[in-house]
Order: sequence, then structure tokens, then C-alpha cells
Amino acid sequence: MNNFAFVNPVKILFGKNMISEITKEIPSHYKVLVIYGGGSIKKNGVYDQVKNALKDYQWFEFSGIEPNPHYETCMQAVEVIKQKNIDYILAVGGGSVIDATKFIVAAACFEEGDPWRILADKPNVVINKALPFGTILTLSATASEMNAGAVITKKETLEKLSFSSSLVYPKFSVLDPSVTFTLPPVQISNGVIDSFVHVIEQYLTYPVNGLLQDFMAESILKVLIIDGPKALKDPLNYDIRANLMWASTWALNGWIACGVPQDWSTHLIGHELTAFYGIDHAQTLAIVLPGVMKLQKEEKKEKILRLGREVFSLQSDSTEELINDSITAVESFFHSMNIKTRLSDYNLGDDAIQKIYDRMEKREWKLGEHKNITANEVKKILELRK
Ligand code: NZQ
Ligand code: ZN
Repeated sequence: MNNFAFVNPVKILFGKNMISEITKEIPSHYKVLVIYGGGSIKKNGVYDQVKNALKDYQWFEFSGIEPNPHYETCMQAVEVIKQKNIDYILAVGGGSVIDATKFIVAAACFEEGDPWRILADKPNVVINKALPFGTILTLSATASEMNAGAVITKKETLEKLSFSSSLVYPKFSVLDPSVTFTLPPVQISNGVIDSFVHVIEQYLTYPVNGLLQDFMAESILKVLIIDGPKALKDPLNYDIRANLMWASTWALNGWIACGVPQDWSTHLIGHELTAFYGIDHAQTLAIVLPGVMKLQKEEKKEKILRLGREVFSLQSDSTEELINDSITAVESFFHSMNIKTRLSDYNLGDDAIQKIYDRMEKREWKLGEHKNITANEVKKILELRK
């Protein structure tokens, strides 16, 4: 096992009716800004629960955070914070609202020029200060509710970039599985697949004898495989939603990353498909991952075999066959969640591949646990996914 340092300071408030508990977490004299998205919280009663909980606070609201949140929108929220002298932010929504809030709380305190530098000028820019914030999660997918990362898109240049800082961990996150009952089926699927691929990015590399991390990763994958399709068939089942919510938080709250190598190439290639073509985050992952597994069969051999045996219960005397069956099992799981996995399913082909190749070449990124996925390999991965 590799060396590691680990802390996760986020307080989780899990279960039914836990939204009312936020008053115990937010000091009563604070001026609060509630940030949310396109209005789903007004249709499912979450907004009313928040309003009720905050009745004795001085609070304001900022709505309109879009999926794959825009830097431009976030900067409007920064203006509101400055105008109203806000002390504390409450993010109410999915990963987009929480990610936007992480950027907003850092940007509001940023004094080194354009806050876009937080994303585009890493590692030269260090965040020294951020406003405190809590979250009420309405879509389980990203684990943004219990991690310190965020992904923001600049509409003007179609760039989708990430940052992380220990200063943007939420102070608390409310996880009430029943608020996810109103998710449309496609968002249930997106959430399950995003969580699945988060685990894969931290598990499907090479063995370092991190037995606990492997077992934990496999357990999370099994929960997603067992309960993901059930959530589509039985959307009002609380226990299924609770399992998925907790599994997706665990998929990227830092625990399974301790002491093991990490990949993240599927995510970084996928971000380009979202940035250029607006494809949902999880759907880009479902397109890219089977290509990464195929191209890196040799490098990832031991872990692909383990995934096949331990998670999908596959058996074969032939190593080659077991590797191929494992890749097929992953793609079939995505299909079982009604998510398409080919570029052509989204009407994309050679032009898209070339565009992403050009950007990767310009950035000179070296992706994957071995840092051996350059623009050429990205092209090969996408060619495999036409
Ligand atoms: O905007 P509203 O009206 O709230 O509607 C949202 C949105 O349209 C809707 N929704 C959310 N909760 C709902 C609901 N509809 C009905 N009932 C509910 N309870 O769902 C739509 C999608 O929401 P969004 O927040 O965009 O989805 P998700 O949670 O999948 O977040 C995706 C974003 O997170 C980033 C992605 O890149 C993407 O920008 N990620 C963040 C990560 C992190 N911070 O660690 C890691 C991930 O890999 C990912 O990159
Ligand atoms: Zn993701």
C-alpha cells in the first residue's frame, strides 16, 4: 500500500426529515444565501422545507445554476454575496449546484485577479480563503457533498476544468434519500453510472495490496449493480434510494483512494465530450470507459481480472476471455441502466475525435495511473468507441 494522509471533515446528516436539522449547523446570526438550480426543488417540496428551516434567519436566494455549471453564472452569485454581505451559503441541489457553490465561495474571497485562474492556472494559484457552506443533496451521483473537488465550465471558451481545495469541503451535508424520489429516470441512471466510474477510477489500476480499499471498492460497485436497476423499476423504494445515496457518497469521499493509484482518464476525456457537445457527464463516462479498458488491457490486467471475478462473478480458464468478458459486463451494466455507450449513439464521429485530439495535444496532458495516455492514446480510445 502506498503512503497517504487522510482527513474528511464533512458532517453527514442522513435520513428522512433531516433538512430541519440544518439550524443546528448554521449559526443563527449568519446572513445566508441559498443557491439552487433550475427549480426542481420548488416542485418536490425541498424548497419549502428549506424555507421553513430558515424562518428565523436573514436569508436570500440565488437560482439558475445550470447542469455543468457555468463560470459566468457563478460570477453573478459572487456579486450577490458581495452586495448583501453574505456570511454563509446553503447549496440545495445536485453536483452542479454544489460544485458551483464551491467555486463561488472561493471566488468571493479571491484577490489574485480573475477567479477563473482557480481552475485554469493550477497549481500556481492557491486558495487561501473561502466562505463556509453546507449542502442539501437532491441527486446522488458526484459525492461533491463529501469531497473537496468541483468542476466548472466556461461557456465562452467551452472549457470544463476542475479544482480542489481543503477549504471547500462542505461544513455539513444533508442526505435525505426521499428527496431523490422525483428524479427523472435518466438522472437515476446518470447517478449510478457516475458513482460506478468514480470507484473504477480508483480501483481499476494496478494492485498495491490495498486489500481493504479493494474490498470496499468492490462492495460499492456491488451495491450500484444490485440496486441501480431496481431504482429504475421501483423508484419510490426508500431503502433502494438510501443504499444508492450512501454508496455514491462513498464512491468519491476519499476513503477508497487512500494508498492506491488513481486513473481519472475516463473523466478527463469525458469532460471534453460535455464541454464541446453538452452530453451528460455520466453518459460521457459510459462512452469512454470501455475504450480505456480495451486500450489499457495489459496495464490494467490484474485489476480487470479481479473486477470480473469479484464483482461480476465471471469465470474462465482463459485470461484473455475473462478480460474481454469483464469489459463486456461493464458495458452491459451501463445498457441495463438504459444508457447508450457509443459515440455514434450521440451522432458523433471523426470530427469530434479530431477536436478532442487537438485540444489534448495542445494541453500536453499525460493521463492515467501510468501517465501514458497522451493525445494519441485518447484518439485510439475514442476510435474504439465510434
Ligand atoms: O437544476 P434543477 O432544476 O435542480 O434540476 C436538476 C438538473 O436538471 C435535476 N435534479 C436534481 N435533483 C433533482 C432533480 N430533478 C428532480 N428531482 C430531484 N431531486 O437533475 C439535473 C442534473 O443535475 P446535476 O446537478 O447537473 O447532476 P449531477 O449531480 O450529476 O452533477 C453533475 C455535475 O457534477 C460534476 C459533473 O462534471 C457535472 O458538472 N462532477 C462533480 C464531481 C465532484 N465535485 O467531485 C465529480 C464528478 O465526476 C463530476 O465531474
Ligand atoms: Zn464523475
